Amino acid sequence: KVTQDSIISGQIVTYHGDPFTLPAEQAVTAQKSAILIKNGLIAQIAPLSTLRRTAPHATVHDHGDALISPGFIDAHAHYPQTGIIASWGKRLIDWLNTYTFPEEQRFADTAYAREIANLYLDFLLSHGTTTVASFCTIHPESVDALFKAAQTRGMRIVAGKTCMDRDTAPQGLRDTAQTAYDQSKALLNKWHGKGRATYAITPRFSPTSTPEQLEALGALWAENPSCLMQTHLSEQTDEIAWVKSFYPNARDYLDTYETYGLIGKGALFGHAIHLEPREIARLQDTGSSLIHCPTSNTFIGSGLFNMAARKADGLRVGLATDTGGGSSFSMLRTMAASYEIGQLTGTALHPAQLLWLATKGSAEALHMGAQIGSIAVGMEADLTVIDLASTPEIAQRSARAQTIWESVFPTIMMGDDRAISKTYVMGIPVA
Ligand code: GUN
Ligand code: ZN
Repeated sequence: KVTQDSIISGQIVTYHGDPFTLPAEQAVTAQKSAILIKNGLIAQIAPLSTLRRTAPHATVHDHGDALISPGFIDAHAHYPQTGIIASWGKRLIDWLNTYTFPEEQRFADTAYAREIANLYLDFLLSHGTTTVASFCTIHPESVDALFKAAQTRGMRIVAGKTCMDRDTAPQGLRDTAQTAYDQSKALLNKWHGKGRATYAITPRFSPTSTPEQLEALGALWAENPSCLMQTHLSEQTDEIAWVKSFYPNARDYLDTYETYGLIGKGALFGHAIHLEPREIARLQDTGSSLIHCPTSNTFIGSGLFNMAARKADGLRVGLATDTGGGSSFSMLRTMAASYEIGQLTGTALHPAQLLWLATKGSAEALHMGAQIGSIAVGMEADLTVIDLASTPEIAQRSARAQTIWESVFPTIMMGDDRAISKTYVMGIPVA
């Protein structure tokens, strides 16, 4: 589909490398410039006056001094938990049983699944998030609902049917090894690679799957290696003990996945807080990705993920809300929580590192760094426009800033959807 050329101008965020490897302010810069978009892709980056001459018929969106960031990428979330976000007083296993599983059973109703999928993606766009990797429920219709809602909005999306076949999940939320395989296969054949959709094979986590189910899903991934695989790993210490009771012969939690081929490039392990040295070594050797879910880790009381250490290990790490274990839909709030956890684990993460994690870091974790997550020629034009003075409280602080990062940081720490002045998907303003 051919669309009208457009030009978007502001302070453009540019990545020159990984800000955990290079000095952060060399790796990430922001400068007044403009982006020419043709057919949803970034065609040229140059001063606004130059692009006006190059493309005199283009529609111009001049955002002044607002920051133009790659659209935020939420690398781990549960859209079906939208309705139970901020549920009080429980830790992981009780939280699943009390709040999550009853809500997920409602997704047997296709109309409800569609309603929440649409509501959720609208929330994301208004918070500047243009791509999410989301769990669905065991109901295939819940997967169709999310892919369809993303397709309608033109969004790049990762999703999969959440598989559970153990009696740790309630009756209404159980499949079998065979139906998990068959339904996941049918869904990936239907959606994977269709437009901007990517399928993720999705065993919820070892405590809700039998070895037979993990084996079946490992086989399905081996047959479809361009799919991603998403699950949970070592979120809470109680959970690790629980895993041990079901898999007494496993060397550690990761081994329960590794044994069935559920590890490697394209594997996305949510949380991964309490890791053994052997697990870290295997995650490194296999090129697996870790996904940091900071608001969830504090909200459910899981623990402190050591970002600086895992990046120093050379691991791919993405950033995520983990809605609704996470307490926010906002990647700004998620960056703030990541900063706070960094402080508690001994490293003050630089604002450039936080922004990079929410965009390029997540894109690389999802193996989508060639399509999304940065502003460069040839990339898909998913962009988030950030007002660096969105409230009086933020404005009075950023007014004193001496550098671009000093002006960005108050919005990271105190900003919300009011700071998102525009979200573009493939160059089209959508929120
Ligand atoms: N572990 C297994 N399922 C879930 C979930 O839905 N949320 C979180 N935070 N952890 C999980
Ligand atoms: Zn999760």
